[in-house]
Amino acid sequence: MILRSLLLFAASGLADIILPVYNGPPRLKYSVVPGYFKQSDLATDDRTYDALSDSFGLTDPSPHRWYRFRQNIYALNMGAPQGVRYVVLYLARHGQGQHNVAEKFFGQEAWECYWAMQGTNGTCTWGPDAKLSPQGHSEVARTSKAWKHEVPYGIPLPESHHVSPLSRSLSTLVETWKPIALNPPLPVCNELLRETLSLHYGDKRSKASYLRETYPEVEFPIEEEDPLWNFHRESEIGRNMRIKHVLDEILSNDPSIYIGMTSHSGVINSTLVALGHRPYVLQTAGVLPVVVKVERDPGWRGEVLWGKKESWEVPKVELRSVCPGYEPVLVSGQYVDGMGVWPYS
Ligand SMILES: *[C@@H]1O[C@H](CO)[C@@H](O)[C@H](O)[C@H]1NC(C)=O
Ligand SMILES: *[C@@H]1O[C@H](CO)[C@@H](O)[C@H](O)[C@H]1NC(C)=O
Repeated sequence: MILRSLLLFAASGLADIILPVYNGPPRLKYSVVPGYFKQSDLATDDRTYDALSDSFGLTDPSPHRWYRFRQNIYALNMGAPQGVRYVVLYLARHGQGQHNVAEKFFGQEAWECYWAMQGTNGTCTWGPDAKLSPQGHSEVARTSKAWKHEVPYGIPLPESHHVSPLSRSLSTLVETWKPIALNPPLPVCNELLRETLSLHYGDKRSKASYLRETYPEVEFPIEEEDPLWNFHRESEIGRNMRIKHVLDEILSNDPSIYIGMTSHSGVINSTLVALGHRPYVLQTAGVLPVVVKVERDPGWRGEVLWGKKESWEVPKVELRSVCPGYEPVLVSGQYVDGMGVWPYS
């Protein structure tokens, strides 16, 4: 990993800084390049704007739009000073999942306090590993069509895909891209691109062997069992740190310019925070393109902000009430609003 990072930075001129001994990715600094996409402009209302019917928000409406866009991104990279490169992130959110349907049905309090920790109410199932709802599948079909629609105008397709290990995101990725182009590039699952860590049963992922069998188009460099479900409720700050860590890892190892990332609303929120993007809430199955300037973080001193602990005590599973007045549910770990998440910190 570190060696590949060094090679990549050597290629992009970032290697003139010697890396201290450090067991994480190099720290990178991000900023949004405005002007290309309407979503980076505060004047665009994310509650009503439908980028899927508007060339993903590209500000240039001409028939040559994406060819010009490519030329611009190419020119930005050619003219970039040492240690700087420009990438385009296509941030994609999964289509509506069964857990989204259930949350709406039960209401937020009953959901957070009881039903989210269950997998079913007898007629509908949202856990473990919530799947896309029928509406979710049709939302994704629409997103796939939106990509197809832009192909004749030269839209740069993702040269690589990074995807959450949860089925709703994996299905979204495969159903969006299989009708267009998938494999190559071979999408890579990233354990850390998952939704806010919590007790929610719908956010417990399936075993890796099941995922490999169900999504043969995707590479799964992950452990068989889910190591990250049913722990502390991850705070927003904790999630921001986790996603910053993943972004640094992805962007220091992936030399692509056009990078697809398929994940969840919480992950996309933290990604935007890391990029310094304006607040933007993406609809289910939405796509948010961002032009990003990537630089070595000059404030970086080699400190570890986020990492996996080598060993930990496996917590007992017990019946506990998550909110006062609600029936107890089976949980392990502590339900606290801490920074970082055990067994990660
Ligand atoms: C179970 O939950 C679903 C929403 O996920 C709802 O549509 C359905 O009516 C519920 N069934 C019962 C028996 O309450
Ligand atoms: C992320 O979510 C928080 C809490 O909902 C919100 O205050 C913030 O504006 C969001 N940030 C972005 C960049 O969307």
